[in-house]
Amino acid sequence: MKAFGTFYGVGVGPGDPELLTLKAINVLKGAQVIAVPRSSDSSSDGLSQALRIAEKAVDLKGKEMMELLFPMTKDRESLKSARKEAAAKVAGALKAGKSVAFITLGDPMLYSTFSYLVPLVREVAPEAPVKVVPGITSYGAAVSAAVVPLAESDEKVIIIPAAYDIDEVKGLLKSFDTVVLMKVNRIFDSLLDALVSMGLDGSAILVSRVGWPEEKIVTDIKSLRGGKLDYFSTVIVKKGI
Ligand SMILES: C[S@@+](CC[C@H](N)C(=O)[O-])C[C@H]1O[C@@H](n2cnc3c(N)ncnc32)[C@H](O)[C@@H]1O
Repeated sequence: MKAFGTFYGVGVGPGDPELLTLKAINVLKGAQVIAVPRSSDSSSDGLSQALRIAEKAVDLKGKEMMELLFPMTKDRESLKSARKEAAAKVAGALKAGKSVAFITLGDPMLYSTFSYLVPLVREVAPEAPVKVVPGITSYGAAVSAAVVPLAESDEKVIIIPAAYDIDEVKGLLKSFDTVVLMKVNRIFDSLLDALVSMGLDGSAILVSRVGWPEEKIVTDIKSLRGGKLDYFSTVIVKKGI
């Protein structure tokens, strides 16, 4: 019987292909199957952003590409069935002895579909080893692009997927020195209201598409009110900047 393939989660960084690690490149070169997550509306052009980054760093010609579709929805049932279907596809390849590299934007252990897939793949292919290749996170690249230190001395940092309760976000803004707000595009105007009401709009920076040709670093965040923001936008609030 063939040995099981390894299931890799590979972080490809937030956009700049030079930010793939050597390990990520080597794993992608060695994997037989590249699993490519696709969501219904995470990108305007419908292409996988992770794939766009990876193929600039590694020649993927001749690799078996496995497209995995994940709906951008909060509906638990449709998410569950899409993830189960994806896990079954991955497990099928692992059982056939092929190693599968699931590419993910930024880091696979930070708000990535990869971490949801791991237990589901383990359920159906428990013998298959699972390995994770960390990637440069989008917030790490964002603070570097803006040259704003994430934390110094005894400062406290929090990462919030800002799409949730704005009152809770306000409470957290009070308690932490640096606040990283991800997935801000849909709630940006109410986040801006909260920042203005707390006198923190001058301490906030919006970084979108860091590492892409379209990269934007905006310090006057009030100028963004009412506009359409890219999904790949992150707001960093750093008290005292
Ligand atoms: C589902 S999370 C993915 C996080 C990713 N795993 C990471 O390690 O950064 C998507 C959010 O990451 C942030 N993001 C991803 N790529 C980005 C980029 N190139 N520039 C700015 N923010 C980005 C945005 O806040 C976006 O809404």
